[in-house]
Amino acid sequence: MAEVHIEDHSSPIKTPQQLVVVVLLSFIVPVAAILLLVKLITGGMHIDPDSSAMSEEAIAQRLKPVGEVGMVGDAESTPTSEAVIATTPTPAAQASVAAAPATAASGAGAGEQVFNTVCQACHATGVGGAPKTGDKAAWQPRIAQGIEVLYASAINGKNLMPAKGGAAGSSDADIKAAVDLMVAKSK
Ligand code: HEC
Repeated sequence: MAEVHIEDHSSPIKTPQQLVVVVLLSFIVPVAAILLLVKLITGGMHIDPDSSAMSEEAIAQRLKPVGEVGMVGDAESTPTSEAVIATTPTPAAQASVAAAPATAASGAGAGEQVFNTVCQACHATGVGGAPKTGDKAAWQPRIAQGIEVLYASAINGKNLMPAKGGAAGSSDADIKAAVDLMVAKSK
């Protein structure tokens, strides 16, 4: 009688089937728990490949370098033709050239083009410590050096300022015109 009593309380598992179920559960439950944990942790990292933030443009936009320097080297093959177009004497242009005293209309035009496409790449934003166009305080001491010094710096380069702003194909006259423009905007 006493033996039967002990057997009653020895284990909740009474049949072989129950044993099999318990053994199986003891494998499945931890594995399921781990899977759920992994899902919980990585769930927040879900990336929707269709979202607009993952488009090629958006990614390229995020990866693109902070500054872009336009090298006018290969674009230089065309300016001659552009300059020719600019200098093609229309009656109105002829009149204005005749009216303008000493300034060469084509030089100023090419200078402005260099200024807009090359120089402003750095001087509009101040990349690498470039004095910003229009920043009078930054330009005042530079202008004080004299225009010839500025021409020389722009043509030969100075510290992070590359020779001719990197537009090696530009003529000295175009660079000087660009300096004139930059200085005029910064006085
Ligand atoms: C890659 C960037 C960059 C480009 C492009 C660039 N500059 Fe500069 N520029 C600079 C930096 C940086 C300085 C400051 C140099 C210093 O004093 O250390 C500077 C300074 C100057 C100065 C003042 C020089 C002096 O002696 O104080 C002039 C003038 C100038 N640039 C003209 C130009 C002109 C004209 C162009 C276009 C043909 C141009 N820059 C294109 C970066 C650039």
